Amino acid sequence: MGKDRSPHVLVFPIPLQGHINSMIKLAELLALAGFRLTFLNSDLNHNRLLKFTNFATHFARYPGFEFKTITDGLPLDHPRSGNWFMEMYEQVIETKMKQNLREMLLNISPPVDCIIGDGFLGFSIDVAKELGIPIICFRTSSPHGFWAYYSIPDIIQAGELPIKGSEDMDRLITTVPGMETYLRCRDLPSFCRAPDMEDPIIKLVVKETRRSTQADALILNTTEELDGPILSQICTKCPTVYAIGPINAQLNTRLKAEHREPHDHFSNTLWEEDESCISWLDKQPNRSVIYVSFGSITSMSREKLVELWYGLINSKAKFLLVVRPNFVTGDEGEDDVVCELLEKTKDRGYTVHWAPQEAVLNHPAVGGFLTHSGWNSTLESIVAGVPMICWPYFADQQVNSRAVSEVWKIGLDMKDVCDRKTVEKMVNDVMVDQKEFSKSATELSQVTNRSVSVGGSSYNNLDRLVEDIRVMCL
Ligand code: UDX
Repeated sequence: MGKDRSPHVLVFPIPLQGHINSMIKLAELLALAGFRLTFLNSDLNHNRLLKFTNFATHFARYPGFEFKTITDGLPLDHPRSGNWFMEMYEQVIETKMKQNLREMLLNISPPVDCIIGDGFLGFSIDVAKELGIPIICFRTSSPHGFWAYYSIPDIIQAGELPIKGSEDMDRLITTVPGMETYLRCRDLPSFCRAPDMEDPIIKLVVKETRRSTQADALILNTTEELDGPILSQICTKCPTVYAIGPINAQLNTRLKAEHREPHDHFSNTLWEEDESCISWLDKQPNRSVIYVSFGSITSMSREKLVELWYGLINSKAKFLLVVRPNFVTGDEGEDDVVCELLEKTKDRGYTVHWAPQEAVLNHPAVGGFLTHSGWNSTLESIVAGVPMICWPYFADQQVNSRAVSEVWKIGLDMKDVCDRKTVEKMVNDVMVDQKEFSKSATELSQVTNRSVSVGGSSYNNLDRLVEDIRVMCL
């Protein structure tokens, strides 16, 4: 017999900004569909959301939408800098979070009927199976990234890895089905640059990726139009895949249909947004500003930032630059030194610690995005129709930037040559000689936005996901 209450869905992201962003939007989409929702966040990030955002009032509109917290296993005052999550994952995070997740699921009322777990938290599949709860994994990285991670053992097996030094970087990789014509060694996920294929990070990434396919289904933040060939490959390993993205655009469509305010009026960021950059953008001509931001994890040496700065100053565009707290590696106070430098060139640009990124990308003054190619940033730029210059750092960013330049042809890939001359030239190519990239970015934006409109592929896939969750929860 069915339950006489709405199904209760638990959404559980990795405690990192890029993952929280898309998973909280998915939680809202499911709340709009009438499910009871619990969003399980790390205690530290929950407190940061409370401090910097209006999310508590925003979600109060959904009856039964609750926030619960869990420790990530590290002391609250741990710096959590650099690649802390991967480095601490197996020793601390997995054990602590697994134990707490299990306890929470045993005690929560009403009981959870379905878990949507971050695809990187494979332990949640073990817990769900032990407790007999259906589980769907959400991989927040790109399908290109997911499929490249999945294929690493095959690439090694075929003798195409390890990479044999810098002169080997342009060699084509032939063992990742769907990417044979454009994937070079330098475009593989950053972990593949390790000289030793027994590297613990490679093993972890492969383990977590392959584990995702043991869930009942997989959700990906993309559209069939963007990633069709790669999705077909992923479906050979995981038959039930829901491509429901871009989640930010899907949420906007669904909120509009309900006559609610678009989601970009509510913020879910872990740093305080500096809205003053919008007033600055208001004063700039259309498509005259390049927005420069490297996401929530990436950090940069002072030398690199100075190269970036010279490249921007020497180019013909104005810039809006995000320098996150602790973005610059090195001694304490480095961020301030760099900000002073930027202060001297105020007439050419504007600097903030954290920007309302989606509003920035949709501002008419913004004509390009110099990005680290994180998947959320890439999708947000595609939705807004803004061409990209890619300076990838790690994980899926190397392969994302290749797709931007070679598959979708909506920008330039700067990877491995990020000096001032290259920055200057690429900024001018994208911003001054705008025609080619603007046209392709606008076209791709239209196709992508259509996929989340009524009857579009992502729109239909979300409906199918909602229906399938209902059936799972009977
Ligand atoms: C990480 C990985 O880097 C990325 O490759 C992976 O796909 C997801 O997790 P992150 O590095 O933070 O995420 O990049 P990204 O995925 O682009 O997410 C950053 C988010 O922060 C975006 O949604 C962006 O809108 C937001 N942001 C960034 C702001 O709101 N303000 C800013 O100033 C900068």
